[in-house]
Formats: sequence, C-alpha cells, structure tokens
Amino acid sequence: MGMDRPRAAFDTAIGELIRRRRSWRTYDGRPLEDAKKSLMQAFIDNLDPPPFSSRIRMALVDEPAGRAGVKGTYGVIRGASTFLVGAAPQGPRGLEDFGFSFEAAILSATDLDLGTCWMGGTFSRTMFGERIGLRPGEVVPAVSPLGYRADKRGVVDSLFRFSAGSAKRKPWQELFFEGDGRTPLTAASAGAFAEPLEMVRLAPSAANKQPWRLIVDGDAVHFLLERTAGFAGLWAVDLQRIDMGIAMCHFELSAREAGLAGRWESRVPGLTLPRRGEYIISWVREG
Ligand SMILES: Cc1cc2nc3c(=O)[nH]c(=O)nc-3n(C[C@H](O)[C@H](O)[C@H](O)COP(=O)(O)O)c2cc1C
Repeated sequence: MGMDRPRAAFDTAIGELIRRRRSWRTYDGRPLEDAKKSLMQAFIDNLDPPPFSSRIRMALVDEPAGRAGVKGTYGVIRGASTFLVGAAPQGPRGLEDFGFSFEAAILSATDLDLGTCWMGGTFSRTMFGERIGLRPGEVVPAVSPLGYRADKRGVVDSLFRFSAGSAKRKPWQELFFEGDGRTPLTAASAGAFAEPLEMVRLAPSAANKQPWRLIVDGDAVHFLLERTAGFAGLWAVDLQRIDMGIAMCHFELSAREAGLAGRWESRVPGLTLPRRGEYIISWVREG
C-alpha cells in the first residue's frame, strides 16, 4: 500500500479535509496500525520540496502511551503514542517551509482519520530533538500527536480551545485586500481565488492569531505577515512564520485542486504597502 499513491495525493477533497481538521489533544490510547504508519511515512517521503526549497525532515516517533503526553507535552496531550516530529534549518524561510510541509502531513493524517494537534510551544524541544536526531543548524519547530480521538475532550484540551477561541476565525475583511492593499476584498470580487482564500482563512495558527494578510493584485496574491504584538518573544521559534507556511500550503493545495496553475515568486508589490505587514512571498497565476 502507499507506494502506488500519486505524489502527495489525498483521497478526500482538500476543502473537506481543511474543514474537518481540528486540533485534538485527548486520545483514546489505541496505537496506530502499521498500515497507517506506512501510509503516513510514504506521504512524508514523497512530499515535493517546499516553496523556498529548505530541507525539511519529518519522522514518526513512537512513545509508550501516556509517557510522551506527560513528559514531552507537559500533560497537554493525553493518550497518544505516536508523534509526528519535524526539523527545519535555522536559515531564512526555513520556518515558512516547515509550516508548508508539516501542514500537508497534518492534512494527510486527517485524510487517514487521525487526530492531530500542531504544537509549537507546549512540548519539550530537547526530548523530541533527541527523537529525530537533531543535526547542527536545525530546530524542531513543532510536533503533533497522531492517534485516535477520545470520545470527549479532556479538561486541558477544552481550556486550550476556549482560551484561544479556536472555533472562531477572523472575517474576510480583516484578512484579504484588493490591489491597493487597503480595500477589503469580498468573496464575490475574488473570483477564482475565493475558495483558496477561504481555505487560508480556515487554517490553524499559533494561539489562533491568524497573522496572514493577503493582497490580491491582478494575477498575483501577495502574502504578508502582520505580527501579533507581544507574541513573538514568547517562544523559542518564530511561530507566526510557521503560520505563514500553513496559509501557503492551504492556498496552493486548494488552488491546484480548483485547476488554477501558478507558482511562488518573490515579487514585492511596487507601491509602499499601506498595510502594516512583512512581505513573505507571492503566488502568481500562470496560463
Ligand atoms: C504553529 C502552531 C503552533 C501551535 N502550538 C500549540 C501548542 O504549543 N499547544 C497547543 O495546545 N496548541 C497549539 N497550536 C494549536 C492552535 O491553538 C490551534 O490550531 C488554533 O487554536 C485553532 O484551532 P483548531 O486547530 O482546532 O482549528 C498551535 C498551532 C499552530 C499552527
């Protein structure tokens, strides 16, 4: 199995996977079957290089049930015995690339009916760094449990969801803009980009801050990072750059599925950006 799957393919429509995925921190203790592990492994092994071509590594790591939850995630994750662990180079855009590739793997796990939870903060970088055999110049930006959801979320899980407002997302007018960088873009005027943009909107982000701002300028969609004040300094890695990679992943996968061809390109908008935002990259439509 697995080997005959096309590269980075999903069985389920990408929009459905994106809508179905939710962070899950409470698992029922059942270990992952070998068949699912090999499908996950095949997906990881066959991933295309990310947009900035960083060398991203991912590994499936087994931990005796419960132990990793208590030790490696400070009790945030319960009942999971397999983790997806990632490593990224510390260089420029390594974290965006990491977000891009790791989110594809998260969606693949969702496709296999597994629960996941992006964790960039509440886990032991030392412990999971050992598990993946961290090399000089690499960081472990995030890990995720992979497992079967418990019937009911635990107390810590529910508290996390409540404090991050995880069920909510910002509305279109706060995220997407027309070419002048200031006029809110409506779904009606977004045309073919409406669905890929909606998929960006539904993406997970650290503490659900949703720092992505997109400017649609003709055939180009510019991705900007609008940092949340006081957030960056809290963590060992720049989590909001990971968020940008996640948004890029959702955009590319859903654009491709909708039949839109395009490529990633550094094309800083000529005008001085009216929006407070750090330019990351643009997706440019072709053909
Ligand atoms: C880069 C990143 C880091 C995250 N770090 C943590 C974490 O350390 N602990 C945790 O419990 N959840 C973490 N989350 C999960 C977010 O809180 C969650 O994605 C967000 O609240 C939206 O909820 P949803 O994933 O259920 O849609 C992280 C998410 C992302 C994208």
